Parts: sequence; C-alpha cells; structure tokens
Amino acid sequence: MTLLEKVTNLAKRRGFVYPSSEMYGGLSGFWDYGPLGVELKNNIKREFWKSMVQSRDDVVGVDASIIMNPKVWEASGHVENFADPLVDCKKCKKRFRADHISEKKCPECGGELTKARQFNLLMETNLGAVQGEKQQAYLRGEITQGVHTNFKQVLDSTRVKIPFGIAQIGKAFRNEITPGQFTFRSREFEQMELQYYVKPPSFAKASAGKDEKSDVEWFEYWKKQRMDWYLGLGLNKKNLRFLEHEPEKRAHYARAAFDIEYKLDGEWKEMEGIHHRGDWDLSRHQKFSGKDLTYFDEETKERFTPWVIETSGGVDRAFLFFLADAYHEEILPPPRRGQDDGGKEERVVLKLHPRLAPYKAAVFPLLANKPELVKKAEEIYHDLQKDFMVAWDERGNIGKRYRAQDEAGTPYCITVDFESLEKGDVTIRNRDTMKQERIDIPDVSHYLREKLDLV
Ligand code: GAP
Repeated sequence: MTLLEKVTNLAKRRGFVYPSSEMYGGLSGFWDYGPLGVELKNNIKREFWKSMVQSRDDVVGVDASIIMNPKVWEASGHVENFADPLVDCKKCKKRFRADHISEKKCPECGGELTKARQFNLLMETNLGAVQGEKQQAYLRGEITQGVHTNFKQVLDSTRVKIPFGIAQIGKAFRNEITPGQFTFRSREFEQMELQYYVKPPSFAKASAGKDEKSDVEWFEYWKKQRMDWYLGLGLNKKNLRFLEHEPEKRAHYARAAFDIEYKLDGEWKEMEGIHHRGDWDLSRHQKFSGKDLTYFDEETKERFTPWVIETSGGVDRAFLFFLADAYHEEILPPPRRGQDDGGKEERVVLKLHPRLAPYKAAVFPLLANKPELVKKAEEIYHDLQKDFMVAWDERGNIGKRYRAQDEAGTPYCITVDFESLEKGDVTIRNRDTMKQERIDIPDVSHYLREKLDLV
C-alpha cells in the first residue's frame, strides 16, 4: 500500500476526512472534514494566522466574499486565461488533462484522443430567482482577488504603509478536469494567502540607502519565511524543496514563481506557490474599474502602483502532507511488566507537531466500572477542557485506548488509577516515547502547556 493509501484509510477510519455526500455515491473532488480533521485544519489555519498576521506589524487580514462582481474575473485575467488543456477519448469518452499524460493514446482503453482544447476552470453559478433574468457569476477561482479589490479600503481604513501585506484564508473553487489523489486536487478547497505590497524598483531608488528591501529581496524573504513555517511545524526537511517555474509554465500573472513541494510516495507535489505578481492585479483592476489604485508615499512624495509578492498555500494540501509526514508504523518492544501498552507488536502513530494535534491530551479512568475513578477523571477532563482540546475515553483496555490516541496524534494520555485517589497524582504517557511519568493533579495543566510548546 502506498503512503497516500494508508493516510487515506486512516483519515476515514479515525474521522479526519470523509468523501462528501458519500451516502449518495459521493461527488468527485469534494470532501468533508470530520471531528479530528476539523481540529487539525483549524490548527493549521491558526498557526498560519499567528505567523503571518498576529506576530507582525506589517500585515493585516481580510475575509472577502466568495462570489464577487463577475467583472473582477475579467480584470484578473481568469475568464481569458484560467484554463487547462483537455483531451477526450473518442472511444471510452473519458477526459484527461493533456499535460498529465505522456502517451498519445487513452491511458484507460488505448482509444484515440481528441486534439487538446483549453478548458476554463472557473466554476459558474447563477444569482437571482427569476429564470431568464438570472445573473451569471463565478465562485472565486483564487482567494487573491478579494484582497486586491479591497486594497484601497484597507489603505483608507487602517494605518498600513508600504511595504505591507494583507492575508486571507478561505475557500476557492476550480472545475478541475481530473480531481484526485485524495484531497490533493479537489474542486472545492481552501487557500491561505498573503498579498504583500512593495515599491516597484524604479521608485525604490528614491529611498535607497534607507535599508528597504527591493521587490526581489522581499520575494526571497517570503520564500524563506514560508519554508521555515513548514519546517517549524515539523515537516521533514528531506521531503521539502523549492521548484522554480520556467516562464512558459508560470500563471498569467506571474513574473517569477517558485513552488514549495512535498515528496509523497517518491513524487514531488506542489504544496504552496510563491509568486511575484508585479503590478498585474492593481493595474488591471485600475483599468477595468476606472478607479485609482495608486499609492502615495508621504515621505518621498511619489505616487506609484505597488507591486505584489504573493504566498499562496493550499490548506487541504498542507493538511494531507502534515498527515503523511506524521504517519509512522512502529514495531513495539514486548509489553513491560506493569505497563499495559496494548501487548500488540505494531502501532500506527501520527507524530503531529503538538500545536497541530487535534487533541492535546486524552483522559482515561483506568476502569470504567469504578465510579470513584470515573469521577476523578471527569474532574480532570473538565478542568483541562477550559484550556485545551481534550479527548475522553473509557472503552476497552488501556492499551487499546493508547492505540486509538496514537492514531489520532494525541501527544499525551492521562490515566487516573487507584493510586491517583490515594496520592493525588496521575500517569501521563508520552505519544512518541511511550514513557510514562506520574504528575501531581494540580500540575497537569502547567505540565501540558510546557511540553506542548503552546504559545
Ligand atoms: N493566488 C495564486 C494561486 O491561486 P495556485 O498555484 O493556483 O496560485 C495556490 O494555487 C495553492 O492552492 C496551490 O499551491 C495548492 O496548494 C492549492 N490548490 C490549487 N488548486 C488546488 C486544488 N484543485 N485542490 C487543492 N488545492 C489546490
């Protein structure tokens, strides 16, 4: 089984991700996040926001609407250029992306293929109740345009000054020809982005010597920031790399483009794009709307159209790669006396970074049929819930409960046993080392906070 298959199975088994509307046969390219999945996804987004907005003086956030005036997509170039090459099999009628197949024949049945034609990925919808008077609109194909169309509003309503950025997280939609590889290529997905506005080089000269970065230096800066973010959340360096896009492979808006790629099952896959968008977006919106989107620099008394450096990550792709990277199968030493660790030979453990782990801890009463143990464990559980996402489990033997939490990526398991009632302490077991230690009950919250590296 490939790692992708193992992760897909685990994701369904443990409640990370389910196929959307599965009871009706599902819908290709759409996924639902389950109880563990929504926690992991929220944690990824929270970490992004913390690093890109909360901890910075030069970035603010917005949350723009998904459906916008259709003219936005004409101005952005998506109506004209946002397309993939498509071929049809004349025999079995299946469709393929021409750039994804190397052979000239249908990869499914060997049939003859049609000539490639451009297929626009924008997803259409209709607004209004009256048939015939309905207005055609699009579900946004990238979250980016909601930032650029708010550029002036943000300038006028906040104290930002160039260089500054606007971050956003939200859903985007693409009518992908061949959705697949689990959540990797979906038709509905989430993006986490930064649009960072800088001075164009011809104007940067006026303030040269003031220790300001050029557009190229900002591009390099954001490349490094984003790579460091993934590394800081535990992704294995060996599985990450940058890939530079040659001019003919770049999107219509990009002057330069690098992908951060992740290696899954031996294949490098795009996780995030860092793009130099130049003045493409603001100039085009200026032209199509007739509104002034220039920036006036109070210090140098210059007026210019800012350039944009963009970081654009896929939340669902990061989710998938964090899961894959964390997935470990381990052979266990034989169970040690006094430590019921399941007695099984193997375990699957998700070694997720604690800040990403859906549950930070799980609380167990050693025996579910001893009310005094259950009561004490419940007290600890409810107390910890005030600060952390905590799981509760009282089913089966302790070993099985450890296994379930290992698969969920829970960093710590806390067991209340008879000694707890006498001495006022609990056993805390570490997910990765499986070592156990006894901690006084009043110290548990502090212990977790310290060990989990939660800021
Ligand atoms: N605003 C720039 C932009 O949208 P992109 O390279 O087309 O750039 C950025 O997309 C990121 O969005 C990708 O690196 C990927 O992580 C994610 N993404 C794009 N298409 C996707 C899809 N069909 N399913 C899941 N994620 C996708």
